[in-house]
Amino acid sequence: MKLTVEPATRPLSGTVAIPGDKSIGHRALLFSLLSATPVRVLGLGDGADNGRSARAVTALGGAIHRDGAALVIRGCGLDAMQPPAAAIDCGNSGTTIRLLCGLLAGQRFATTLVGDESLSRRPMRRVREPLAAMGALIAGEGSGDDITPPLVIGPARGRLTAIDYALPMASAQVKSAVLLAGLYADGATAVTEPGPTRDHSERMLAYLGAPLATSGRRTVIDTRGWDRRLAGDGFEVPGDPSSAAFLVIAALVAGAREVRLPNICVNPTRTGFLDVIAAMGGTVSLEAPRHAGPEPIADLVVRGPPPGLRGTEIAGDLAIRAIDELPVLAVLAARAHGTTTVRDADELRVKESDRIATTCAMLRAFGVACEPRSDGFTVEGRPDRPLAAAAVHSDGDHRIAMAAAIAGLVADGSTRIADADNVATSYPGFAAALGQLGATIAAG
Ligand code: S3P
Repeated sequence: MKLTVEPATRPLSGTVAIPGDKSIGHRALLFSLLSATPVRVLGLGDGADNGRSARAVTALGGAIHRDGAALVIRGCGLDAMQPPAAAIDCGNSGTTIRLLCGLLAGQRFATTLVGDESLSRRPMRRVREPLAAMGALIAGEGSGDDITPPLVIGPARGRLTAIDYALPMASAQVKSAVLLAGLYADGATAVTEPGPTRDHSERMLAYLGAPLATSGRRTVIDTRGWDRRLAGDGFEVPGDPSSAAFLVIAALVAGAREVRLPNICVNPTRTGFLDVIAAMGGTVSLEAPRHAGPEPIADLVVRGPPPGLRGTEIAGDLAIRAIDELPVLAVLAARAHGTTTVRDADELRVKESDRIATTCAMLRAFGVACEPRSDGFTVEGRPDRPLAAAAVHSDGDHRIAMAAAIAGLVADGSTRIADADNVATSYPGFAAALGQLGATIAAG
């Protein structure tokens, strides 16, 4: 599928319902499999990645049925998961495969996990290392430095061994895998992270009654004296801030009468992009702040003509809290006065594509000077002239395809984005939503 985007000729305007957060959706599905009681999940997104986790749940013995607007998941509890009849296909989804590694590490059967071409290139030593230290069997492809899918995990011979693990990289997927395996370990499993990665696993496992405590950067699951029961009524999945970021930045670059995105997750581990926008001089209002279960939510609202923006530095904890939004923040940086530098974001190299390379290639196609660094990139902003309309390729990465579409709103002609089917990974309704706000975007 190709996307064609025309330059915006008037301010964007409207209210768009953003689909459920992808990270929370994965956890709502996979954690419900461990629940002793049925769990109602409201607001699950329609992206292909969450679909992979849903299929994994049924492959492992859970049942999912629709009840009005909700999905009801009947899990197996902690100890009655079923061996799957075939390999579980995790598609493009790093979260599905890495969280499953944690979930399956303590099971008495073996499971094979496979993925698409992109996932089959992604590093898995990061999960094998801690899980193997806990006594889990986990094997993958490759004999060099790292391993990649297909992975074979299990069978466990008995309880896993609790470990005290310092995460070598800022990864919520690895942290979550260790915490899930910790449910199957004797004693206290501790994970310390180097920076503030998303903490949905901690919030949601605690909500289900897991014996979990977080203090600063350290989370401990201590199974001693625990009745091994997880249970909860349901999860309400708030709107995905990572999807909302595309429309927020569309409204900032094209201008907005009023663009309103209700019910967005504003968990501080996810709102780095809002802090970056503020540092650049843009304004996004958070209206009607409230809670959806364990997560804080608010309506995001953008109003007014494109603000005068200045370049900024995105580094340290801020880079971690904005990691998935860096490609589209790079588009915003192209509209700011001066240089924007992204550092401490080497994790971008191992996402659905090498996002340091693909973000730079995408912006350069629009005539923007963007230089890769080993741990990020720099963008030279030029707010005084439109971008050069471009033919770009998504490089198989949904966030690159959508970032390019936003750049197309401020280009000097039609922008064509090839290989854009992957938008369905996280946000199948993206083009329709942008159209709803008044942009001209066609899929074909
Ligand atoms: C995710 C964690 C992050 C993020 C990904 C979703 C999650 O990945 O980039 O889109 O749901 O836990 P890492 O764990 O690799 O940092």
